[in-house]
Amino acid sequence: MPHALKLDFGAFAAPARGVLVVFCNDGVNFGVATRRALGRSAGLVARAARAERFSGKDGSVLELILPEGLKVGRLVVIGAGKSAALKQKDLLKLGGLAMSKLPTATKEATVFADLPGGPMRAEQAADLALGIALRDYAFDHYKTKRKDDEKPPIKRTVTVAAADISASRGAYARRYAVNAGVQMARDLVNEPANVLYPEEFARRTGALKKLGVAVEVLDRKAMRKLGMNALLGVAQGSAHDGRVVVMRWNGGRKGDAPVAFIGKGVCFDSGGISIKPATGMEDMKGDMAGAACVTGLMHTLAARKARVNAVGLIGLVENMPGGNAQRPGDIVTSMSGQTIEIINTDAEGRLVLSDVIWYTAKRFKPKFMVDLATLTGAIVVALGHEYAGMFANNDKLAERLTKVGEETGELVWRMPLGKEYDKQIDSKFADMKNTGGRMGGAITAAQFIQRFVDDKMPWAHLDIAGTGFDSRQTDTNKSWGSGWGVRLLDKLVADYYER
Ligand code: BES
Ligand code: MN
Ligand code: ZN
Repeated sequence: MPHALKLDFGAFAAPARGVLVVFCNDGVNFGVATRRALGRSAGLVARAARAERFSGKDGSVLELILPEGLKVGRLVVIGAGKSAALKQKDLLKLGGLAMSKLPTATKEATVFADLPGGPMRAEQAADLALGIALRDYAFDHYKTKRKDDEKPPIKRTVTVAAADISASRGAYARRYAVNAGVQMARDLVNEPANVLYPEEFARRTGALKKLGVAVEVLDRKAMRKLGMNALLGVAQGSAHDGRVVVMRWNGGRKGDAPVAFIGKGVCFDSGGISIKPATGMEDMKGDMAGAACVTGLMHTLAARKARVNAVGLIGLVENMPGGNAQRPGDIVTSMSGQTIEIINTDAEGRLVLSDVIWYTAKRFKPKFMVDLATLTGAIVVALGHEYAGMFANNDKLAERLTKVGEETGELVWRMPLGKEYDKQIDSKFADMKNTGGRMGGAITAAQFIQRFVDDKMPWAHLDIAGTGFDSRQTDTNKSWGSGWGVRLLDKLVADYYER
């Protein structure tokens, strides 16, 4: 959970208490505002830099305790490298790094949004602040034995000193909502499956109502009536019923087709009858990271009052090998009418998605659909934890996702789709089978989903098995559940789909 951080903007003034964080470039030069605040301690900083061989290289840090000439207890100097063209992801990183250098006991810190080239623009100061906020997260409420002095203080204030305080506050307002969405997604992914089963996940989405999101929950009866038998087949092996949650945010023009996001929400994936090996199975509490992202994204869009119509749908199930579990060899009729032979009950995510995607297209006729799913181990083999796999039937949508990926640092890499791969999922007994063999496993999973998408509907599938949890640790994310995708898709909406 995010700590109770009070983050605000203030003037460039040497603080009287706490920790001061400043930035320099390669060569240890400071901006004017920073130099003024450092005053006569500048000489000390230069000596310390020489002693430590600190050269201001990107991401390097120099720390001074009780710096003579300053009132603060600690001065942290962070190298911003060449700092010529700082992108959003660079500023996030600097903010995250600043936050990470506050000792646990710190109650007050001041971070100077200032560089040798001049003070940061409001948008940049706000990105720096977002980096600070993103780093301020720990999922630690099940840790009951820690002493008070091992925990951060209940109240912590970080002030970002900036040139234009009110413009920076204005720019941060949107990012405040982004941070809240990411933190919400992280919490959902980190939560264990005995706590967060489908019904409880659905209950938690109710929090979005306060923000003006319409939240509708489909239970087993409603899904049965709609014919969502692919999803229900997965759910039937568990003592917990499945749910589909429909979240709608109408910030756009009345009657405008919405943008649609669909998430895989397997609250726990044991594999079902095709049970997984014991080692690492605990990670499968995170098999709902796609649904967590969609929920966090809907929170963000509503909280920042995005001028767009958006729908978020999540398919929530638990994949368990109970007495009523579905068997390999079973054939189910999906909502689309297409039949599916179950070869491996561990290929459950695509079954859940097939019905939810079909339902989304029929009911909402969206502008496009993006689905997110921790779908295959194969995508982790292919791309590791750096990039999510992207499959798309539409070049424009794919290019936009690639671009916002590079800007936010939530990277996607496009993978191929094609007829020959599609053949791999033809079935002897039904219209298709739910696995296509080991070879190209992430691709055949995507082919499966594509069979439930109309060719004319722009669609992208993001396989986030390598990025949704246990992903690359960064300066803004040390959480197991990363909240991956909220920033990416928020930016996709902001840059291309708001009126
Ligand atoms: N949830 C898993 C995929 C997964 C594996 C996500 C590791 C994150 C980390 C998915 O439901 C699954 O079990 N996929 C199988 C598919 C296979 C049976 C065709 C896989 O990848 O092995
Ligand atoms: Mn599985
Ligand atoms: Zn799964």
